[in-house]
Amino acid sequence: MTQGQLQPKRKLRLGAFIMATGHHIAAWRHPGAQADAGVNIQHYIALAQTAERGLFDQVFVADSPGIWHKGDKESFSRQGRLSHFEPVTLWAALAAVTKHIGFVATASTTYEDPYLLARKFASLDHISQGRAAWNVVTTSAENVHGNFGLEAHPDPALRYERAHEFVDVVKGLWDSFEDDAFSRDKASGVYFDPDKLHTLNHIGKHLKVKGPLNIERSVQGHPVIVQAGSSEDGKELAAATAEAIFTAWTSLAEAQAFYSDVKGRMAKFGRRPEQLLVLPGISPVIGRTEAEAQAKWAELQALIHPSVGLATLEPFWPGEDLSQWDLDARPPYIPEPPKGINSRAHVVLELARREKYTVRQLYEYLAGARGHWVVVGTPVQIADRMQEWFENGAADGFNVMPPVLPASLDDFVELVVPELQKRGLFRTAYEGNTLRENLGLERPVSRYAEPQAKAA
Ligand SMILES: Cc1cc2nc3c(=O)[nH]c(=O)nc-3n(C[C@H](O)[C@H](O)[C@H](O)COP(=O)(O)O)c2cc1C
Repeated sequence: MTQGQLQPKRKLRLGAFIMATGHHIAAWRHPGAQADAGVNIQHYIALAQTAERGLFDQVFVADSPGIWHKGDKESFSRQGRLSHFEPVTLWAALAAVTKHIGFVATASTTYEDPYLLARKFASLDHISQGRAAWNVVTTSAENVHGNFGLEAHPDPALRYERAHEFVDVVKGLWDSFEDDAFSRDKASGVYFDPDKLHTLNHIGKHLKVKGPLNIERSVQGHPVIVQAGSSEDGKELAAATAEAIFTAWTSLAEAQAFYSDVKGRMAKFGRRPEQLLVLPGISPVIGRTEAEAQAKWAELQALIHPSVGLATLEPFWPGEDLSQWDLDARPPYIPEPPKGINSRAHVVLELARREKYTVRQLYEYLAGARGHWVVVGTPVQIADRMQEWFENGAADGFNVMPPVLPASLDDFVELVVPELQKRGLFRTAYEGNTLRENLGLERPVSRYAEPQAKAA
């Protein structure tokens, strides 16, 4: 493998995917975890500052507008992810105690309102001085529709159709004011130019939104658009609108196929491959020696209660009573991915088939990071794997998913970041002031700008 095969000066992008107590399903029980992390602002402040010390591009939190719930009462009582902050509110607080790091907040196109969402993210972009990003999700959880007066969770096809329209409306609202609309000239008394204010007047299949937005165009023009679905519809949405895509693969070949597939779809939307960063998840279990890393992994796995482990498998065997299964035998059968369930099911069921896992091994694998790529090893071994994916058309960077927080993020920043820097793969200082500048993404031109400005 030669360094920089694709582009000589290409640098890795790094995001810290923060799951309050850590990504491992039993993380909250670990001595290195902050058990009340989901509602502990000091914990998040420390994490964001650690990620910034490690020169990460961004921190990210996942979200769903309802309670995470899997398994029976026994299992439910043992899960550590039930209580946590709303992402935009959280990041607005952290913007005040950081300078460089970007903030990716998840918000649902199925359950949110586009006007309110556009306003919230524009505010976050102003508050953070250009460090906001929106993780556009259609919401995969089946149990939240009741919170919004709906009889059922809408079908994936319908959710994605609405998502395309929703993103377009939100971008249109962000362009309500032209960049130079506000003169705020105290001498003349003219505050702004009404000719530079545009009313969207959107009437579409799913949404009817008049506009304009009641906040001016933000530092980045638009907050960065992130997408995290990998189905056919998900890839189309990413190719059409996203500037970064979060994804979950466990082998180089699968990640390469996804990378070229999604980038290959962009031309038909008039976009170039470098306008979308593909960021697979990696959950690194780091030891100064291989034995130490393996011991850390074993310590975490020993904390999983079987009822919690089995609950992670439930969505892939719908309607099955898993509590009757022998934990140390292979699953009695491996179904085809159920219709309507997301692309994650393909990854998990394929893994069960390929690796011939027992029930316990399968849930132990998923327990690490829900089917994302877990790498247990030394900083050199972890950097080797990241470099391999980065230089062989599988990734533009990674969403780092620390198994235990704060301990595993500290390990990554202290041990893996210097190794990546030593290899010339990662920055040694932030390049810009905004998240877009650090990610190497263009500032979008307003849809109302003069044609020559658009072409520039
Ligand atoms: C790294 C990553 C993070 C995600 N975060 C969220 C999230 O916060 N909320 C959510 O509802 N879905 C989340 N998803 C799920 C996707 O957005 C998507 O809804 C799901 O994968 C189903 O769509 P698909 O069938 O197109 O993959 C995430 C997926 C990935 C890979």
